[in-house]
Amino acid sequence: MKPSDKIFVALDTTDLDHALALGRDLAGLVGGVKVGKEFFTALGPDGVRAVADLGMPVFLDLKFHDIPATVAGAVRAALALGPFMLNVHASGGAAMMRAAAETVAKAPTKPLVLAVTVLTSMGDGDLAAVGVGGDAASQVLRLAKLAQQSGLDGVVCSAREAEALRAALGPNFKLVVPGIRPDWAATDDQKRITTPSQAVALGADYLVIGRPITGADNPADAARRIAEELSR
Ligand code: C5P
Repeated sequence: MKPSDKIFVALDTTDLDHALALGRDLAGLVGGVKVGKEFFTALGPDGVRAVADLGMPVFLDLKFHDIPATVAGAVRAALALGPFMLNVHASGGAAMMRAAAETVAKAPTKPLVLAVTVLTSMGDGDLAAVGVGGDAASQVLRLAKLAQQSGLDGVVCSAREAEALRAALGPNFKLVVPGIRPDWAATDDQKRITTPSQAVALGADYLVIGRPITGADNPADAARRIAEELSR
């Protein structure tokens, strides 16, 4: 795996032509692309297929959270799109995560199934308000362990959580990390950021990077700079 294969570019857009132009521009310079709820709600499975047809691995970031049978059905439908990674909310519980893992286990080509633990937009106070005692860090660890026990392949987490999760969950559990900012890029609305090389040093397997690449004057150059940083 080349260092640049760790980079998944977030295509946070509802404009398919823009997404495809970015994808073509970045092919070979990054490991894949991430499409989430904004893209999917506007452009649907056809949009995902169009991006996948560029030949790049796709992280389908739809964060499923429902009863086990419905999540199993959603995962089955997602498998038809051939994603490299997909995700569910760990707070949906062990039975829901097992339903996702078991559905994927039957597929001929198996995507990685990741859990979202605590949304990074939620602090300790927000957790208390929805009835979760303790701090966000312990809740992240608790849900990540539950995800591993339920047969999931990894979690999406902040780089700050990566070191503790790596220590607790071992070398094979995938850590996918957003909130990445090279030291030359604007912070935007991200608060807890790390550079690409810091995130990898803290244990990240994959980096989700959006605006530092997609918002750059020259996205391909930005991706090259990040890949160079990771190769050093
Ligand atoms: O543009 P930027 O690099 O901030 O984009 C980061 C991407 O990762 C966005 O798609 C965002 O929704 C996603 N993400 C995040 N923080 C999380 C989970 C996902 O920034 N905790």
